[in-house]
Amino acid sequence: MKVLVTGANGMLGKAICLQTAPADVELHAADIVGAQIDLDITCPTAVREVIHSIAPDVIIHCAAYTQVDRAEEEPDVAYRVNALGSELVALTADRVAAAMCYISTDFVFDGAKRAAYHEYDEPNPLSAYARTKLAGELAVARHCRRHWIVRTAWLYGEHGRNFPATILRAAREGRQLRVVADQTGSPTYARDLARAIWRLIAHAGYGTYHIVNLGSASWYELARRTLDAAGLYDVPVQPIPSSDWPSPARRPAYSPLSSLRGPAEGLPPLRPWQDAVSEFVSHVRKEQP
Ligand SMILES: NC(=O)c1ccc[n+]([C@@H]2O[C@H](COP(=O)([O-])OP(=O)(O)OC[C@H]3O[C@@H](n4cnc5c(N)ncnc54)[C@H](OP(=O)(O)O)[C@@H]3O)[C@@H](O)[C@H]2O)c1
Repeated sequence: MKVLVTGANGMLGKAICLQTAPADVELHAADIVGAQIDLDITCPTAVREVIHSIAPDVIIHCAAYTQVDRAEEEPDVAYRVNALGSELVALTADRVAAAMCYISTDFVFDGAKRAAYHEYDEPNPLSAYARTKLAGELAVARHCRRHWIVRTAWLYGEHGRNFPATILRAAREGRQLRVVADQTGSPTYARDLARAIWRLIAHAGYGTYHIVNLGSASWYELARRTLDAAGLYDVPVQPIPSSDWPSPARRPAYSPLSSLRGPAEGLPPLRPWQDAVSEFVSHVRKEQP
């Protein structure tokens, strides 16, 4: 199977390309700069040239504008990458009969359900970033016949900036930790998601899937678990309400994801989030003892 990965230098892109790619896959890694292939997904000519010349069986589309707060100031920049860029990739994928896997987010939901969201719940994005990601979903569904839309949440991993890594760094530097305790979601290890995506594109029918580690947590619980997994039981974390940590973008207060589609397709659930955090911490400690 020939697979093109966009956004290959990002957190999920690296987990897909460097940590979990099956040996029998012919992998083509693209990013806006610094990957095996330079590809700006907002440039129609470049998208057509790269996709036509590779003629992949599958495109795993990890390229995205992911700065949730900054998107409030520059929504058009975010739309250009997440909606227009995804649409260009979808149109060209369809032209060369490639299947496309688009990565989306729990932030497409508003949190009002107060229970886990499954694939058939109605999106209602609260932020500019979330609106651009939903626009990307719709464009992919409209323009690429063979597509998967994978909604995931609260990603962390060994590559790139993320919450558990920030907590470990802050604890090492002796900083005081105050963490929001009234937002709940599904923390997900990029390595687990990457393995699930390889399984999905090899075995599952097209459509929308929610893929996250099992269970739910607040940011406070995620911080506590990360520190405990690192043996830093004595480092205090102060739980605070989100009103004490104002941010430009509105986020859903309750957005854990569940899946009806995955089990129906025989996809195994990912392990509990607590176990995934423990493995993440052990990898980080091997690299920075
Ligand atoms: N991180 C999360 O918590 C989370 C949660 C739910 C869903 N997701 C979704 O999961 C996917 C992967 O996220 P991630 O955390 O791995 O993001 P990431 O680390 O920001 O990676 C995105 C990659 O796309 C690249 N990119 C940006 N603009 C591009 C363009 N015009 N053309 C080509 N590449 C471009 C980025 O390059 P630069 O770094 O140079 O901009 C980066 O390498 C995204 O679709 C995201 O929306 C993420």
